[in-house]
Amino acid sequence: ARGVRRCEASLASDYTKASEVADLDWENLGFGIVQTDYMYITKCGQDGNFSEGEMIPFGPIALNPSSGVLNYGQGLFEGLKAYRTTDDSILLFRPEENALRMRTGAERMCMPAPSVEQFVDAVKQTVLANKRWVPPTGKGSLYIRPLLMGSGAVLGLAPAPEYTFIIFVSPVGNYFKEGLAPINLIVEDKFHRATPGGTGSVKTIGNYASVLMAQKIAKEKGYSDVLYLDAVHKKYLEEVSSCNIFVVKGNVISTPAVKGTILPGITRKSIIDVALSKGFQVEERLVSVDELLEADEVFCTGTAVVVVEYAGNKGVGVVSQQLYTSLTSLQMGQAEDWLGWTVQL
Ligand code: COI
Repeated sequence: ARGVRRCEASLASDYTKASEVADLDWENLGFGIVQTDYMYITKCGQDGNFSEGEMIPFGPIALNPSSGVLNYGQGLFEGLKAYRTTDDSILLFRPEENALRMRTGAERMCMPAPSVEQFVDAVKQTVLANKRWVPPTGKGSLYIRPLLMGSGAVLGLAPAPEYTFIIFVSPVGNYFKEGLAPINLIVEDKFHRATPGGTGSVKTIGNYASVLMAQKIAKEKGYSDVLYLDAVHKKYLEEVSSCNIFVVKGNVISTPAVKGTILPGITRKSIIDVALSKGFQVEERLVSVDELLEADEVFCTGTAVVVVEYAGNKGVGVVSQQLYTSLTSLQMGQAEDWLGWTVQL
């Protein structure tokens, strides 16, 4: 175990007062954008070397109408969270995993990406600069949104000549309006989220625009979100628009293997390790929709959603709840961080 790593005390300390908390209705946080104080920004040209980066007031940015991101969708995002602990320190959860995933995605999208070190340092600076927006313990978390985009001008289809990396933050509560209650999913039989050879395994912005229609229809029918099936056989589970999926049968927990069309979730990966440590058998493989219908429990995982139960479960989701509690107590600093996953600011 690596234990908790401490961030350099000097980082952005001039922005923060030790335990100051912003004036916000902390009891009623949903998952929406709240205007915070600062955002981090850095740019690079074709050489791929990002400048040192600076903290600027949160707000609109100027973009060339001909930028790669606006015209051809050359963009990637990440998501991670910071929690305030009872002793008023702040914990990040596995930020270097987000940095690595952004680097993998950037390669797929022909973009340069910040180094893991620059990414993690920028996340720390942004959180510290916005420390008063980290919700009080137990009231939610600070959602951190790193964004990488082709900001340079293009007209013919080509990688942009300039890139901008931004990190903004917003305090959040539960992702689904159901709160922690189970959610209803509809199995999508018309639209697909990803296809073999496509970009389903990277967090590119276009993956999220393309599921809006299916999500809109599902919401109109009273469902919380959409469960996608594979585009080839139309029978294997892939993922939900905003999270990965797991099915539980006895002591075995199964989840679709990440083989190109599924986003390799960091919560997914963490839940697999937590489940193994609790003595469950975990299988990453093809999981058919029939197995879901016969499962004891189904749950979804994601940074934004954390761990959420599926409403079709036969009884109380005992396994889902156990895993939810194990993961969140680690993230909130309420359990020993024996895997060295948290970074203390
Ligand atoms: C996250 O869980 O951080 C995501 O990226 C999902 C997003 C749709 C909110």
